[in-house]
Amino acid sequence: MELLEKKIEQANDLAALESVRIEIFGKKGVLAAEFAKMREIPNEEKKEFAKNLNIKKAKLTKLFDFKKMKLEALAIDEMMAKEGVDVTLYKIKSTSGALHPVMETMNKIIDYFVSMNFSVHEGDYIEDDFHNFEALNLPKHHPARDMQDTFYLKDGFVLRTHTSPVQIHTMKKSKPPIRMISPGSVFRRDFDITHTPMFHQVEGLVVDEEGKVSFSNLKWILEDFLRYMFGSVEVRFRPSFFPFTEPSTEVDISCIFCEGKGCRVCSKTGWLEILGAGMVDANVFKAVGYENVSGYAFGVGVERLAMLIHSIGDLRSLFEGDVRLLEQFR
Ligand code: DAH
Repeated sequence: MELLEKKIEQANDLAALESVRIEIFGKKGVLAAEFAKMREIPNEEKKEFAKNLNIKKAKLTKLFDFKKMKLEALAIDEMMAKEGVDVTLYKIKSTSGALHPVMETMNKIIDYFVSMNFSVHEGDYIEDDFHNFEALNLPKHHPARDMQDTFYLKDGFVLRTHTSPVQIHTMKKSKPPIRMISPGSVFRRDFDITHTPMFHQVEGLVVDEEGKVSFSNLKWILEDFLRYMFGSVEVRFRPSFFPFTEPSTEVDISCIFCEGKGCRVCSKTGWLEILGAGMVDANVFKAVGYENVSGYAFGVGVERLAMLIHSIGDLRSLFEGDVRLLEQFR
């Protein structure tokens, strides 16, 4: 037996110990052979023999288990040394990110109109003069182009100044009825506290057979949309001008900061300008070859809404990528 104990003691890795285990404890191992001897032993000696054998077995098992534990710990040490795991390394703190407030607001706008069965069309950033201006009833030298000075590319292409050209593309591609929105980036040559050279809009267009789309439909959906965005606000429609709509309207909500009493944000008027809209101008339908239809359109500036919702004072700060501002929206 001392020999067996020595064998366990001398196994210097787990594989060696495993062969020792088979040799001693296996079905055809030393212990099994010892127990088999019981058959030949006279009855009166059996008890004593079995007792001694069981004590030996227990001793060997204990020795074996201890050795195994030692070798396993050694194997882990060895692996750690080889793979270079430095358990003293600081745990890098991981934090979850969040949507940019502009994207979050845009998604909220999209969610509303998708729930109202509008489809979503993205359009391209580069447009030609026809789609960005001409087809939207903004002929060359029209003074309304002045507000939409942009970045001019070669061959009459421009970076789109609004999402309205997607109206034209969608009407050219499909037939009425149309119910679509178009979210995306737009570009202008502007830079001050309320303007950046790149910003975002969501355009909306509904077209159906003549007489099926009315100004009251437009009023209803915009009121419902603005209450979805801002809660229970008053909504006001003011006559305005856009070349691509006739009549045109600008839509205001009662100031969400002073509830219409008049404060710094609403310039003491009690109202906040939110978006432009109107009935699609006959010339726009002419440009895409539509006849006997009626429709409404609207355009929302996404940053304007995000700034109001989050009380952000300077539009430019939205695009500076300063985490001190952005992490407040997590
Ligand atoms: N395209 C206009 C702009 O960028 C916004 C707009 C106003 C879009 C009225 C519309 C509309 O569709 O009907 O200032």
